[in-house]
Amino acid sequence: MSNRRTFAIISHPDAGKTTLTEKLLLQGGAIHLAGEVKARGAARRARSDWMKIEQQRGISVTSSVMTFQKDGIVFNLLDTPGHEDFSEDTYRTLTAVDSAIMVIDAAKGIEPQTRKLFEVCRMRSVPIITFVNKVDREGRSVFETLDEVADALALDVVPMSWPIGMGGVFQGVLDFASNTIARPEGDSREFLGRRDAPGEGAPVPDDIAEEIELAQAGYPEFDLTAYRHGDMTPVYFGSALKNFGVAELIDAIARFAPPPRPQSSEQGTIDPERADVTGFIFKVQANMDPQHRDRIAFMRMVSGTFKRGMKLTPSGLGKPIAVHSPILFFAQDREIADTAEAGDIIGIPNHGTLRVGDTLSERNDVRFTGLPNFAPEILRRVALKDPTKTKQLRKALDDLSEEGVIQVFYPEIGSQWIVGVVGQLQLDVLISRLEAEYKVEAVLEPSPFDTARWLKGTDAALRDFADFNKSNLAKDRDGDPVFMARSSWDVGYQQERNPELTFSATKER
Ligand code: G4P
Repeated sequence: MSNRRTFAIISHPDAGKTTLTEKLLLQGGAIHLAGEVKARGAARRARSDWMKIEQQRGISVTSSVMTFQKDGIVFNLLDTPGHEDFSEDTYRTLTAVDSAIMVIDAAKGIEPQTRKLFEVCRMRSVPIITFVNKVDREGRSVFETLDEVADALALDVVPMSWPIGMGGVFQGVLDFASNTIARPEGDSREFLGRRDAPGEGAPVPDDIAEEIELAQAGYPEFDLTAYRHGDMTPVYFGSALKNFGVAELIDAIARFAPPPRPQSSEQGTIDPERADVTGFIFKVQANMDPQHRDRIAFMRMVSGTFKRGMKLTPSGLGKPIAVHSPILFFAQDREIADTAEAGDIIGIPNHGTLRVGDTLSERNDVRFTGLPNFAPEILRRVALKDPTKTKQLRKALDDLSEEGVIQVFYPEIGSQWIVGVVGQLQLDVLISRLEAEYKVEAVLEPSPFDTARWLKGTDAALRDFADFNKSNLAKDRDGDPVFMARSSWDVGYQQERNPELTFSATKER
């Protein structure tokens, strides 16, 4: 049985993801000082020009991989950008995890981005452990929070712990499994390791004792199978800032979260026990140094044991490449990986050979499916300030779409290329990187189109459709046909008139 747990944290900005990440890494011994995740992130961000945008806005567009170890379990935490203007990167990262922790603010409950990210998890039946954060502050009633999670997300909820008061009357968190109360200590009222049995030393106020009794009778018992199917979520209460509930959370991931899951491929399901190496690229990131055009492709290992120098064949290339200097991201410090196994992430430096969605395999006999592109929510026409730079622009747009920064659509008629993004921030990143890395000055203009749908159907059906709708057709960077719609009404209308075609809001590669 694998000792790997590969997971992500999903949350709305400000719920406490960064703080919780720090605490998880601290407990795993991966960093020594709280605050380092943010501090180092900032230092790293300062390194390159285009990332100044992130700095100014105080957010991180880039995701990374953090690995820590506890009690023989190796945890791979994949960071997803937490700001509101998230990109496809965020979604794609969720295709590379086996489970997720959903952090919600005890006072705010389920917020919009939590819900969006949750939907992506649900699409892929990714099981979720819920962490209700900030119970050291005033929050909603515990029942209200539990019921909101259950209703909003249509999940069975199981409280695994219970806060003994919140805010000014916060007295600790009762963990049901061990029947102990983690207690606040000192001026900071942090959890420093003291646990008492409920009773004399740690009295539970009557009203809370009653709540707990009600809860234990009213909610179902934890059921591992239901959780792993994504139908049930265990709910932990805590305070990342004051260290409550963090140890319980790590324990829950170790005990309940699934080890590496089998992945579907065109050749059937690939098990993690398979002996030879297979994996897929879920993210490509430009090097921090804009002078160098090299990139790092993040590969999620699906099977086998990777060894440095191994030859793997990328599905997009057809011939093997030797992976001499793979990177393991260890608490944000790069370390050269010697071996990696199913569930691990390795970074592979390359010059654009590896693309998001590519499968890598030792025997070149697998193609993973299910890594989606999402229909962009914002479309813009790209206009050049200097028209002689068309070639550079095309190269840049192709590169950046490979990285997943943007999507690009080349209309069948006319020469004005269209870029699509799911968040406004990506547009700023695009303009800034065009200038910094490709010396191309461009402006973004309103696009006549509002949304895009990937078209699927027989060649004949596609030809027929094209005869009447040429001005609404484009090709994506893979040359696949896309319907550019003026409105979502337009999509519905065309769908009705062309039942033999599918208009898809995602594209699986
Ligand atoms: P995010 O990554 O999800 O956006 O949230 P982050 O961890 O940055 O936390 C957002 C704010 O909430 C921070 O305060 C953080 O200190 C606070 N916070 C996180 N967890 C807890 C908790 O358990 N209890 C309480 N009371 N506060 C918590 P800030 O003032 O915005 O930032 P900072 O300057 O203190 O870092």
